[in-house]
Amino acid sequence: MTGDATEPLETARAAARAAAELLRDVRPHDVRHKGNPRDLVTEWDLRSEEVIRRVLAERAPGVPVLGEEGGQGAGAGAQRWLVDPIDGTVNFAHGLPIWAVSIALEDAGQIIAGVVAAPQLGWWFEAAAGRGAHDGLGAVLRPSAIAALDQAMLTTGFPYDRATRPDNNFAEWEHFQRRAGACRRLGAASIDLCLVACGKLDGYWERHLKPWDAAAGALIVAEAGGIVTNWTGGRFDVHEGAVVATNGAIHEELVAELARVHHPAP
Ligand code: IPD
Ligand code: CA
Ligand code: CA
Repeated sequence: MTGDATEPLETARAAARAAAELLRDVRPHDVRHKGNPRDLVTEWDLRSEEVIRRVLAERAPGVPVLGEEGGQGAGAGAQRWLVDPIDGTVNFAHGLPIWAVSIALEDAGQIIAGVVAAPQLGWWFEAAAGRGAHDGLGAVLRPSAIAALDQAMLTTGFPYDRATRPDNNFAEWEHFQRRAGACRRLGAASIDLCLVACGKLDGYWERHLKPWDAAAGALIVAEAGGIVTNWTGGRFDVHEGAVVATNGAIHEELVAELARVHHPAP
C-alpha cells in the first residue's frame, strides 16, 4: 500500500525550487570527469545535491535519499528519494540549457511523486500518483496523438561507455533514423521523458539508465496519459535501467521495432 502523494510532491517542489534557484544563472568553470572523460561532474552537481538533501531532510526527516553524487544515505523504511541534482551535466558543462533537476519519491517500489525542473529553459514538470501531471503553471500535461512511427519524433540517449560496450544503442539509433519521422538526442533523460509527457516528442527509448535519471520523468509520462514500459513492453522498473516511453499510440510499434533491431556481430 503506497502513501498519499500530496505532501511528498510539495516537498519535492521545495527541493527542486531551491536547486533551480542555485543553478539558474551558473556557468560552470570547474568541469572534471569521473574516470571516463565523457562522464563529467562539476562542483554544481555536488552543490545542487547538497541543497536538495538539506531541504528533503528538513521537510521529510528520516526518509533516505539515493542521489547520483552522494549515494545512498542512512535511513530505513519503505520510502526513499531518488535525486539527480543535474540531469544533463554534459550540456550544463557546455553552457547548453537542456538540463534539469530531477527529484522523485519511491514508496514501496512505486514512484508516487516527481518533479523535473529545467531552470535555464523556464520549464517545470511535476506529477503525483493518481493526480495527473502538470507544468509549473498548473496546466495539465497530455501526450501527442501521433499514431504512426514514420510520423513520430523520437528521442534517445547513449551510455557514457558507448565507445566500448556492444549494446551502446548505435544499432537502435540507426534503425529509428530510417523508421521514424525524426530522431533526436537532447542529452537529458528526464527532459526527454517530460517532452513525451507534454506532447512535444512522441516517444523515447534508452537502456542503462540509473534510477535517478528516469524516476520522476517516468511518473510524469504515465500520469499525463502516456505509456512507460521496459524494453519488451513489460512493467517498467526504475532500477532495471531500460525504458520505453511514448504517447501510447505508437508504443506497440516502437517496442516491436526495438525487437527487430539487427545488432552487428561484435
Ligand atoms: C545522463 C543523461 C543522458 C543519458 C545518460 C544519463 P547525467 O545523465 O540523462 O541523457 O543519455 O544515460 O546518464 O549524467 O547527465 O546526469
Ligand atoms: Ca542523469
Ligand atoms: Ca546527473
